[in-house]
Amino acid sequence: MSHHDPAHDHAAASTEHEHFNGAAATWDDDPRRVARSRGVAAAIRAAVDLSGRPTAIELGAGTGLLSRQLADALGPVTLTDTASGMVERARAVIDAEGLAGWRAEIVADGSAPHQAVDLPGGPYGLVLSQLALHHMGDVPAALRAAHAVLAPGGQVAIADLDHDPEGAYHAAHPEFRGHHGFRRADVERMLRDAGFVDVRVATATHVGKQVRDEERDFTLFLATGRRPADHLRG
Ligand SMILES: C[S@@+](CC[C@H](N)C(=O)[O-])C[C@H]1O[C@@H](n2cnc3c(N)ncnc32)[C@H](O)[C@@H]1O
Repeated sequence: MSHHDPAHDHAAASTEHEHFNGAAATWDDDPRRVARSRGVAAAIRAAVDLSGRPTAIELGAGTGLLSRQLADALGPVTLTDTASGMVERARAVIDAEGLAGWRAEIVADGSAPHQAVDLPGGPYGLVLSQLALHHMGDVPAALRAAHAVLAPGGQVAIADLDHDPEGAYHAAHPEFRGHHGFRRADVERMLRDAGFVDVRVATATHVGKQVRDEERDFTLFLATGRRPADHLRG
């Protein structure tokens, strides 16, 4: 995990927030975003038990690209995000695609002191997320919230950027104050510390990105785990 200023730079955070609000309307038009969602969805289908079509909550869902790729395998999904523009766009897409029982909700970012990450609804059978964890100020708190909102036996599937020590992925975003990817061992430890078992981290997919004048390849990991069934908790 990269180091993060616990005080969180609120000016930068709100600039980032505005960036996502502004990007929401055309977010789905970038074929690379659709392709990476397809890649992560395929990795989730291979690594997670989706039998019984679990109800799900997606964290930092944006317009819900990842969950929408998995719509045939999931029950109703709650899409959550901190950016109101993304949530509005997600609601429009839910209506347009007729995704019965799906909803989109704004959540607080949980990084301010004493501000708990409070996820709506639940208990869910699955928590999923793609490229959102690296924006979160307090990652362990977010993972504890993910654990708390799951039913016993529920699963977690989180995809994000592998450790990017040069900050190349966000080179075009000087306002970015999040984590420059994560070391897999740190993700594994944070998931275990949050109470998850059967934790595994593997490569989910690759994403290409133009960095300055060079085409670069980045890997996304998929971290999976399970909230223990009640009788296994000590
Ligand atoms: C890179 S985008 C990814 C969106 C979507 N998951 C996708 O792959 O298309 C990151 C998203 O995380 C959201 N976000 C940033 N900080 C967050 C936080 N603390 N909690 C939840 N979502 C957050 C942003 O508003 C944005 O929609």
